[in-house]
Amino acid sequence: MTDRSRPAQSTNVARFILDGEVHAARIASPTRTVLQYLREDLERIGTKEGCAEGDCGACTVVIAEAEKGALRFRAVNACIQFVPTLDGKALFTVESLRDSKSGAMHAVQQAMADGHAAQCGFCTPGFVMSLFALYKSDPAPDRATINDALAGNLCRCTGYRPIVDAATKMAAVGAAVPTAERTLVNAPAGAKRLAAKLVAALQGLTRRSIFTTPSGTFMRQVRWLRWRACGLRCRRRGSWRVVPMLGSG
Ligand code: FES
Ligand code: FES
Repeated sequence: MTDRSRPAQSTNVARFILDGEVHAARIASPTRTVLQYLREDLERIGTKEGCAEGDCGACTVVIAEAEKGALRFRAVNACIQFVPTLDGKALFTVESLRDSKSGAMHAVQQAMADGHAAQCGFCTPGFVMSLFALYKSDPAPDRATINDALAGNLCRCTGYRPIVDAATKMAAVGAAVPTAERTLVNAPAGAKRLAAKLVAALQGLTRRSIFTTPSGTFMRQVRWLRWRACGLRCRRRGSWRVVPMLGSG
C-alpha cells in the first residue's frame, strides 16, 4: 500500500557535490547545521566556529548553484545554514581550494599569504572563502565590491587593509596558473567550459522534496536568502506557510 502522506521523492538524504563527488548526507535533524556536519561528521575542521549565530563569518563556506545554465557562487555562513538546504548544490570548503595534485595554494590563499593578511589566523578561512566566492564571480572587482564581499567577515587582530589588498591581487595570481593546470576551483571567473560539467551534475541532482519528519511534515527544497532574512517554506496541516527566520548583519 502506498503511503500518500509522504511525497514519493522524500529520502531524508541531502545529496550535494563536494570536491567533485556526489555526497549523500543522512538528515537526522532538519536543524543540523552545515558547520556541525562539516566539523563533527566529516572532520573538516578548517571551517571555524566563532559566534555560531551568523555574525562573524569565521564559518564561511561557498555554495554553487546552477542558474540559467551557468554557475552562481555565493558565500554563506555554515553556522546558520541547515544541511537539507545543500540538496542539489555544490559545496566548497577551505579544504576544497588546495590543488589536489600539486598541493599548491589557491590564488586567494597565495595572495593572502603574500600580503601577510593573517595574524592569529582564526578568521582567515572565512575571509578566504568569501574572497573565493568573489574570485569565481567577478574577474575585476572594484574596492566597493570587495568591501561588500567582506562585509560579513570580522577580523580582530590583522586589520582589513592587507586583506583588501590581497583581494585586489588574487585575480592576477590566478591568471598566472598555466591553462593546462586550470580546474573549476582555480580558474578565474567565467570559465564556462570547466563549469559546464558541474552544471550538468547539479541539474541531475535536482529534486522537489527531500525530507520527511516522523510527524509527516516535510520540507521542500529550501530557499535560503543570505544574511538578514531567509524564508523557509514548510507545509503544516495541508496549507503552505512562509516562516520568517531572522539572521543578523
Ligand atoms: S560562526 Fe560566526 S558567522 Fe558562523
Ligand atoms: S587574523 Fe586573528 S582574527 Fe583575523
